[in-house]
Amino acid sequence: MRRKLAAGNWKMNGLTASLGELRSLVTAHPDPMVDILVCPPATLISQAAQCCAEHPIGIGGQDCHAERAGAHTGDVSAEMLKDSGACAVILGHSERRGDHGETSDTVRAKARAAQAAGLMAVICMGESLAQRDAANTLDIIAAQMALSIPDSSTAENLVIAYEPIWAIGTGLTPDAAQIGEVHDFIRTRLERRFDPGVGRGVRILYGGSVKPDNADAIFRVPNVDGALVGGASLKAGDFSPIIAALESSA
Ligand code: 13P
Repeated sequence: MRRKLAAGNWKMNGLTASLGELRSLVTAHPDPMVDILVCPPATLISQAAQCCAEHPIGIGGQDCHAERAGAHTGDVSAEMLKDSGACAVILGHSERRGDHGETSDTVRAKARAAQAAGLMAVICMGESLAQRDAANTLDIIAAQMALSIPDSSTAENLVIAYEPIWAIGTGLTPDAAQIGEVHDFIRTRLERRFDPGVGRGVRILYGGSVKPDNADAIFRVPNVDGALVGGASLKAGDFSPIIAALESSA
């Protein structure tokens, strides 16, 4: 059985004071029945990891460079994330693909580096509204899967997040049938490409406007193994009921 995962992506939000939200989360979930991952900005990873040192909440980064070290001003390597206390890293988020021109080839190289450094790569993929309207969603997902996911992937070091771009930060979500169609498709492709243990073991998260009031319905969709939550992960009061909804679906 796949262990469910509630992941929070703080994006470019959070100062030292925001660690109070993490402390509230630690207090609210002393013995979680699901995995919890919080991905604060890189500046807070080390302190966040210290907050969770005695607790199963994992801390992750939001990006890493594909190389181990070198002349790359402003970049952070997977090894550095690991060294600062991270256990995972989000890669290929549509905001990075959009803002920084990251291609699926770049994402695959970063994911390989992350896995080599002992991090779990949370690889994001999803279609734009124009691509969905043109009935290209599954083709887009197939291409992003083929190119973004490295062969070095295992059930432990890979998580896929399906995040339709049009659902991110908009309050819009696909309906259950639309989410189910994509998650089933991703599962089938994983099983076709990898050994059964990997194909069946990799967790597939849904991301895009997950809130306390829609989490329950989303978590009931087959092959949804959890969520990658943006805005609603910033406050423990919002993220906590999402974690609770995931626990009751487990
Ligand atoms: P929102 O939950 O704010 O829509 O963001 C989703 C997301 O991009 C998580 O990576």
